[in-house]
Amino acid sequence: MGRSVTEWVNVTGDVSIIARESGEVWFHTPGDTKEGMDPFAAPMTGAGSAGSTVGLLDGALNLGFAEIEKRLARPDPTIAGYVVALAGAYHTSVDTPRNLRRAASRFDELGRPEVAAYLEERAREETGHDRLALKDLHALGVPGERLVANFIPEGIKPLCQRFDALCAEDYPIGSIGYSYCLERIAALKQKSDIETVQALCPDGVDATRFLRSHSSLGSEVTHVEETIGFVASLPANDRIRVVQETYQSALIMAEGYNHELLKSEAAMIEELQRAIGETLPYRPGSYPSQGEKRGARPAA
Ligand SMILES: [Fe+2]
Ligand SMILES: [Fe+2]
Repeated sequence: MGRSVTEWVNVTGDVSIIARESGEVWFHTPGDTKEGMDPFAAPMTGAGSAGSTVGLLDGALNLGFAEIEKRLARPDPTIAGYVVALAGAYHTSVDTPRNLRRAASRFDELGRPEVAAYLEERAREETGHDRLALKDLHALGVPGERLVANFIPEGIKPLCQRFDALCAEDYPIGSIGYSYCLERIAALKQKSDIETVQALCPDGVDATRFLRSHSSLGSEVTHVEETIGFVASLPANDRIRVVQETYQSALIMAEGYNHELLKSEAAMIEELQRAIGETLPYRPGSYPSQGEKRGARPAA
């Protein structure tokens, strides 16, 4: 008899996420029912299903972004903002394969070859993504290596530190929650977001390699689907930890993105020029050969 799967995870003291296989998701305050009657008070112990696991993961993401949504900065897009985003994209990609392999070898030691194999596969898939960001920077006339050697966007730092720390844990299952957060957010980017960036760039310049591959048009959609299937197959304790980390990573990501988006274009240009030790090959808001072009601000 196929009973529908219900999963639940307490993500903060007073919020649990409950998700059904059918796709229903809701937030619950533990103890919100008559004492001793709350069926979600104790951690879940049963098997997962793709339908309920994705509900928990996306519920955690939404919760993490919910608070900041009201005060989210929405500046006009600029090339300077895009260059900062590319530097951030480089830093969130460059150590990913090494970090994932470190977590994989720990799971091998722990006698969990299926988790190790999943992380190894992810490490292979993510290899070379930092190069895409560097190529995009070069395409824009920015000395990419020099920029990333001297500059990491302040809002991106805590995110990188979080992933480093998660992959070095004795039981590094949280690394999957972090990866889900980044990939799911990237997979939300649409063709129109890429076109907006292309419109900012000089004619004939292809500076959207990283963005394309980390969008709904690239491999992120498959990565996200595979991760959902894999997380659903994990034991309940692991699923709980992954969902909790998805929430924590979303909080850090939302704070960090907002921090960067709130900066003025002049402040961004100053930071970038200090890092490369020369002026950028364009004036604020434009390219020398182009007039002013504006559209929606992307984050790579
Ligand atoms: Fe990637
Ligand atoms: Fe990916």
